[in-house]
Amino acid sequence: MPTDPYASRTAPPRFPDGFLWGVSTSAHQIEGAADLREPSVWDTFTAAPGRVKDGSTAAVACDHYHRYREDVALLADLGVNAYRFSVSWPRAASPGGLDFYDRLTDELCAAGVRPVPTLYHWDLPAGLDWLDRDTASRFADHVSRVAARLGDRITRWITLNEPAEHTLLGHALGAHAPGGRLLFDALPAAHHQLLAHGLAVRALRASGAADIGIANSHGPTWPASGDRADIEAADFYDTLLNRLFADPLLLGAYPAGLGDLMPGDVTADLEVISEPLDFYGVNYYAPTRVGAPQGTEIEFGGLTLPAELPFTVLDIEGVPVTDFGWPVVPEGLTELLTGFRDRYGDRLPPVVITENGCSGDGLDDQDRIAYLDGHLRALHRALEAGVDVRGYFVWSLLDNFEWAEGYTRRFGLVHVDFGTLARTPKASYGWYRDFLRTQR
Ligand code: BGC
Repeated sequence: MPTDPYASRTAPPRFPDGFLWGVSTSAHQIEGAADLREPSVWDTFTAAPGRVKDGSTAAVACDHYHRYREDVALLADLGVNAYRFSVSWPRAASPGGLDFYDRLTDELCAAGVRPVPTLYHWDLPAGLDWLDRDTASRFADHVSRVAARLGDRITRWITLNEPAEHTLLGHALGAHAPGGRLLFDALPAAHHQLLAHGLAVRALRASGAADIGIANSHGPTWPASGDRADIEAADFYDTLLNRLFADPLLLGAYPAGLGDLMPGDVTADLEVISEPLDFYGVNYYAPTRVGAPQGTEIEFGGLTLPAELPFTVLDIEGVPVTDFGWPVVPEGLTELLTGFRDRYGDRLPPVVITENGCSGDGLDDQDRIAYLDGHLRALHRALEAGVDVRGYFVWSLLDNFEWAEGYTRRFGLVHVDFGTLARTPKASYGWYRDFLRTQR
């Protein structure tokens, strides 16, 4: 059971030499300069009223496109040795669009910060759709173009960000772009993203890249009780969130029953999807407590879950929650990683935590410090338990456009004033910098 993540802190644990220490961002959430790229499905989605909590868009966001030098200086001062950002596909497809990533890459290399780009973080070019199989090969073309331009300076690549959340929020529940409410009919969008990932791995290897992974969102699933109905519902949820996206990548097979819901015969696709990976990226935020369906619609973590789902999601009692309402359970990270090691054995490549962080207001963000400190200790316990972990990235460097929540949820180590665009490091930025000094 969870212990108190806000318990008093002792000296930080020591991670192995060569560990990758970073922060993560994504293009649509920070870049702005929407007029200098092709439109994405998020532009269409946010233009419709009522989709984003504060009615905002990411047209300007943090204006990172114009202020990237200032942001790279913040990274250098922080002392990270790696930076995970994403390449916007709509920008990469625009005339001169790759020039921006070229400049950013040079700036990072000059600052001694290793660039770790994600090639897709939810900003699909308008007009494309993950329900179409052809989008997978279009993605591979995008990846080849980016690798041809940046591959002389970039060695580590991440194909996709969180196909699970993208399918669930964007195609099944309608909370994110493109706004599909297809429930289980959304599964082809998952398959096509996984296929896109596999094709991208092949395209990257063909371009000479040798260090390739994906960033998948995962978390332990806890049954609400020992009752059979709760255990079965939790098992199904675990299959959907965790196994549906890890099994095909690591084992070359969909979990029993789910392969039948995918479009057509997927046998040949699974060969592509299970191309060996050099690392496995895990985005971890919280575990989920799941029970048997109640037959009613429920509100959870900013989402409306329809009554038809074969499970319900419940609060985890007795732990702090972030301002998003997400439970703070660092032990869940140890449980997740040791569980993955037990489930996948030597099919699991070295793990990198590609996102971890929490939302909350204020410059003196002690809750964020407690969150990060607790999760780093939990990560170290996974290392001690024998999980091969090679890196950790905080989500996020900057407060940013938090998708359907607009600018109402702040995940940054650095505060952004969205009126003036001024950046102000928070207490957590100083804390992470001090922590990183202990690891040199
Ligand atoms: C996504 C980020 C998002 C973060 C916080 C992750 O699921 O990759 O884009 O901002 O969670 O919600």
